Amino acid sequence: MLISEVIQSVKDYCKGSWLGMKIDDTKTRDKVLYGDTDKECTGIVTTIYASVNVIEKTHELGANLIIAHEALLWNRGDHREWLEESQNKTYLAKKKLMDDYGITVWRFHDYIHSGIPHKDGYIDGIFYGLAQETGWDDAIINEDISGAVYLECEPTTPRQVAKLIKEKWNLTGMKCIGNMDAKVTKILVCGHVQEGGDSNTLIKRVDKEDINLLLPLELIDYTLTEYIKDSGELGFDRAILAPGHFNLEEPGMKYMEKWIDNALKQHIPTTFVQAGDMYTFL
Ligand SMILES: [Fe+2]
Ligand SMILES: [Fe+2]
Repeated sequence: MLISEVIQSVKDYCKGSWLGMKIDDTKTRDKVLYGDTDKECTGIVTTIYASVNVIEKTHELGANLIIAHEALLWNRGDHREWLEESQNKTYLAKKKLMDDYGITVWRFHDYIHSGIPHKDGYIDGIFYGLAQETGWDDAIINEDISGAVYLECEPTTPRQVAKLIKEKWNLTGMKCIGNMDAKVTKILVCGHVQEGGDSNTLIKRVDKEDINLLLPLELIDYTLTEYIKDSGELGFDRAILAPGHFNLEEPGMKYMEKWIDNALKQHIPTTFVQAGDMYTFL
């Protein structure tokens, strides 16, 4: 199967529309970020991010296609002119590695979030995969990223949930904010808590619905983080676990191993390679 056919089959398998809008192939993030697609696919690696170590591992596995959820070269749109112009040394070394090994990198972002087949319809492949890989079978997967995964569970604590996800997602640790011994029955995986706005809507929801534990993608120190710190110090059952954006979405790319044969309607050796915990804690 040609690499171009692998990519087309994976796209065809997905829903291909997001919040009622068909994905526009001229605008989608899901582009070939590097390499040639007009050659036989020798094997596939799925990952959150095609880091240098992932490229090395792909070559060791005899594979030549990396399907990555995030961008390759450190900027939105994966523009390369600025790196060529400035002759960035890390860029040149990473490029050489991909050239030497004949690696093709395809970004698989919008299509997997649009949905993979599930029951009679489709479900966000990243967040469904996250729930499945964690053992959260009862989780509700939402199309709205501000509350992507919602789970009501038997009483637990943030400390116990941290232990569970460290083990399941193979992490070295995570940022913990708030009351680590809070009683947790409601968990929400929410979107990016980032600069340039406020988290008022989310804070209102947490307060009203008594959500105990939040797992955000990106996280800044102000807005939500401050609110949870105060809540914890006042004795409310509130906490944040922040393993990081890439670590959090990575289980969704691991889960892809389980369905890619259905998408390709044939078997091509496919291996999930963990990009490695983005963070080291000392
Ligand atoms: Fe992401
Ligand atoms: Fe994502």
